[in-house]
Amino acid sequence: MMVNDKSFVLGVLTSGGDAPGMNSCIRSVVRTTLSNGGRVLGVYGGYEGLINGDFRSLSAREVGGILQRGGTILQTRRSERFLEAKYQREAIRNMNSAGMDGLVVIGGEGSLQGAHALAKQGIKVVGIPASIDNDIWGTDMAIGVDTAMNTIMDAVDKLRDTASSHSRAFLIETMGRGSGYLAVMAGIVCGAEMVLIPEEPVSVEQVASAIEDAYRRGKTHAIVVVAEGASIRTSDLAKAIDDLDVGFTTRVTILGHIQRGGSPTAFDRLLAARMGIKAVQALLEGQSDVMVALQGRNMELVPLTEVAGKKRSANRDYIEMAKMLAL
Ligand code: F6P
Repeated sequence: MMVNDKSFVLGVLTSGGDAPGMNSCIRSVVRTTLSNGGRVLGVYGGYEGLINGDFRSLSAREVGGILQRGGTILQTRRSERFLEAKYQREAIRNMNSAGMDGLVVIGGEGSLQGAHALAKQGIKVVGIPASIDNDIWGTDMAIGVDTAMNTIMDAVDKLRDTASSHSRAFLIETMGRGSGYLAVMAGIVCGAEMVLIPEEPVSVEQVASAIEDAYRRGKTHAIVVVAEGASIRTSDLAKAIDDLDVGFTTRVTILGHIQRGGSPTAFDRLLAARMGIKAVQALLEGQSDVMVALQGRNMELVPLTEVAGKKRSANRDYIEMAKMLAL
């Protein structure tokens, strides 16, 4: 694909769990492509849309007014079928008959593995990391993480108000089935007494003693942030702690899918714009089988082979920092 080749056509899809900023990224991919003389086909419903050939041309106007909207105008799915070779072949047939020269995949780790599978079969593909979990190896930040973090912060601030008024301990569950990133960061920015993450199992007694300590130090509340994938289920933990009589009464709040919605923050909009531009430029330069990554202040390209099957783990030092600051 050449920059001066006026006829080039790129596909763009969003896949996996949605993340705020996906729309900003679609807009960036479409307008960068149009600015370089190409056309974009939006693929509807992630990899399912590739299998079904559900493609629609996207104009500059059609991606207008979406920059600030959460979710994804292209829809997203978790496609089990796409793991099978016969459906991948079907997808490639559809892409070829639509005249697609390259594809931009915006999604999480599973979606990037799908991108790698297509690249191995000769399709020109560039991935863009988007997942609120921030568990994608190779990039400092994925699209959606900052917005989710701000949603969590807002929710925990509100929960602290009621926790303090009633002298209660709140166990607050964040998303992230395999990664404690959101929980650990929430520990710092929300001033939690304790953080529980999948990467570091703890016992009920350890949690109970952290809450009791906070009570004895004269605190009016205790906040424990529990990652969805932590070793103990949040509701079971609350029951067990209540039975141990730790001073505070206990309440549970599961933040759930609210963390995936909402208007993207300035950080996510900028990240999405930069990643979309970088992905199209990479395809125009003939690159494939790579993911766009934020490394420090720079946009880099990381081979998808290095990304697939690896996980960016939570920064455990932050757990200690949170503990120290919760004195
Ligand atoms: O990967 C993003 C994520 O929000 C995880 O944090 C969560 O475990 C999962 O998706 C939930 O997926 P679903 O919306 O399919 O239930």
